[in-house]
Amino acid sequence: MTPTTPPTVLVLPGEGIGPEVVRVGRAVLEHVLDRAGLPATISEHAVGRPAYERTGQWLPDPVRDALDQAAAEPRGAVLFGATADEPIGELRSRYDLYANLRPARPLPALHAVSPLRPERLEGVDVLIVRELVSDVYYGRRRTGTDAGRRWAGQEMYYREDEVRRIVRCGLGHAEARRRHLTLVHKANAIPDVFGLWLDVLAEERAAYPHVEVQDRYADTMAMELVLRPADFDVIVTGNLFGDLLSEITGAVLGSLGLMPSASLSPTGFALYEPVGGTAPDIAGTGRANPLGTIGSVELMLRHTFGAPRWADRLAAAVALAVGLWRTPDIAGPGDKTCTTEEMGAAVCDAFDAVATEEATE
Ligand SMILES: NC(=O)c1ccc[n+]([C@@H]2O[C@H](COP(=O)([O-])OP(=O)(O)OC[C@H]3O[C@@H](n4cnc5c(N)ncnc54)[C@H](O)[C@@H]3O)[C@@H](O)[C@H]2O)c1
Repeated sequence: MTPTTPPTVLVLPGEGIGPEVVRVGRAVLEHVLDRAGLPATISEHAVGRPAYERTGQWLPDPVRDALDQAAAEPRGAVLFGATADEPIGELRSRYDLYANLRPARPLPALHAVSPLRPERLEGVDVLIVRELVSDVYYGRRRTGTDAGRRWAGQEMYYREDEVRRIVRCGLGHAEARRRHLTLVHKANAIPDVFGLWLDVLAEERAAYPHVEVQDRYADTMAMELVLRPADFDVIVTGNLFGDLLSEITGAVLGSLGLMPSASLSPTGFALYEPVGGTAPDIAGTGRANPLGTIGSVELMLRHTFGAPRWADRLAAAVALAVGLWRTPDIAGPGDKTCTTEEMGAAVCDAFDAVATEEATE
């Protein structure tokens, strides 16, 4: 395997709206790769409930083997839809997908969709860097009964090296962007865990003298993300708070269906997925917004394919497409709505229009 080996992309649609948005995401990826002349090996595999019903495994052994192989390659990636249960937690920890990037930048054409006043959206461009393989989600679980009353506990736990690598990741992204980093914590109520985070940040920031650093309590941050979202650049935080805060940025944008994400491992193996879940309330209706998945494809073009110009073109295509096409979650009163598939086709058409315009400039 040489560094020039084409990326291997495993497409794992999952269940609920997963297969609907991933079908469109894959079509957009293949469209861009075709136009760009970029080779890739793409294969699709059932995971989650559809796999469990067929094989008794959420992550069938042959899919695990394919993932192990892709993870060992220089440029392996997963395009994931959504699952109600496993295997997403297992994938994150098995492949050490510790750095979860969740960008949120409202498109001007969609300002009216946000519950915030348009002037509050001016200049909003936030990147949440969420630690993804530790925290209370993976902490020690215990249950018991004490004097006839049931109790349950799950430990919030972080090792120093886990904190250090995500803090470095946040600082690195801040340096490459607007050079501003906010560490979100709860050191007032959870002093040991977040005292460690603050200590590590104090040590690591020395290597990034151009990055302005501040910290916020998670509850204050939740409020400020709604009141003053434009004040923030990179937000670095743990698994639990990152989960909550990125739902807020989804709401700021106007729909969770717009939010993409990339989860990166130290080796470069990466998983790309929309931030939302299986959305059982709209699954099977053609109403799911595929733009979070298409945004995840844009992140894949940047991080796995190393093709930022094609990623920029895809971003420009999305901005063009939403000027005319709206899935129900981003439609205003009186807007004609389109289906998941129609939005995908509109993005592909817009992509060709953007590429043609650039070629004639
Ligand atoms: N990575 C994952 O696979 C993942 C992530 C989050 C939740 N989940 C799972 O998904 C299931 C449903 O969870 P939930 O209902 O709390 O959250 P959800 O994200 O599935 O849905 C929350 C709301 O957002 C809407 N929404 C989400 N994605 C959308 C899209 N692309 N287009 C339009 N609207 C969209 C839904 O219709 C719903 O109203 C749960 O079992 C949960 O565990 C999975």
